[in-house]
Amino acid sequence: MLNKDIANHLKASMSGKRYDHTLGVAGTAKKLAEIHGADHDKAETAALLHDAARDFNHEYILQMCQKYNITADEVEKAVPDLLHAKIGACMAGDIYGIKDSEVLDAIRFHTTGRKNMSILEKIIFIADMIEPGRDFPGVEDLRELAFKNLDKAVITGLDSTLRYVIERGLLIHTDSIEARNHLLGC
Ligand SMILES: [Fe+2]
Ligand SMILES: [Fe+2]
Repeated sequence: MLNKDIANHLKASMSGKRYDHTLGVAGTAKKLAEIHGADHDKAETAALLHDAARDFNHEYILQMCQKYNITADEVEKAVPDLLHAKIGACMAGDIYGIKDSEVLDAIRFHTTGRKNMSILEKIIFIADMIEPGRDFPGVEDLRELAFKNLDKAVITGLDSTLRYVIERGLLIHTDSIEARNHLLGC
């Protein structure tokens, strides 16, 4: 499916707020792709579909996991919202006909990150955090950093995610730790 058709389809299936966020991520991801030498069309596709499953309730998340044979790990069982990334990747293939594994992986790992992320994965991860609708202390600095040094921006993004979950006593997904360690040279 072409990106404009994906966008139209999503518009009809998402809340207005989620759709605005989606378009914000898509615009940011395209710009980042141009700066960092990634395919901007793929970046737009991954960004459009990254949150396709974000508004599903827990019951529906479990149904979709069954449908797509997704096995939740221990952390995902405790925090089912994390599964929207894996479900989104399956929907991108199943409903939107996306076959490109780079695009599917960028959707699959947009929330946690992972060890040895591709440029496209880094772009979607950070675009999700810095799109124009995001407002948190330090967002302007992170926006600037994302265009200058993608790796440093992803580390900073992971740091803030980790701080957020620690401050709230929530579980940390090991993929985030591995993503950060790998970017720090481990
Ligand atoms: Fe998401
Ligand atoms: Fe998002």
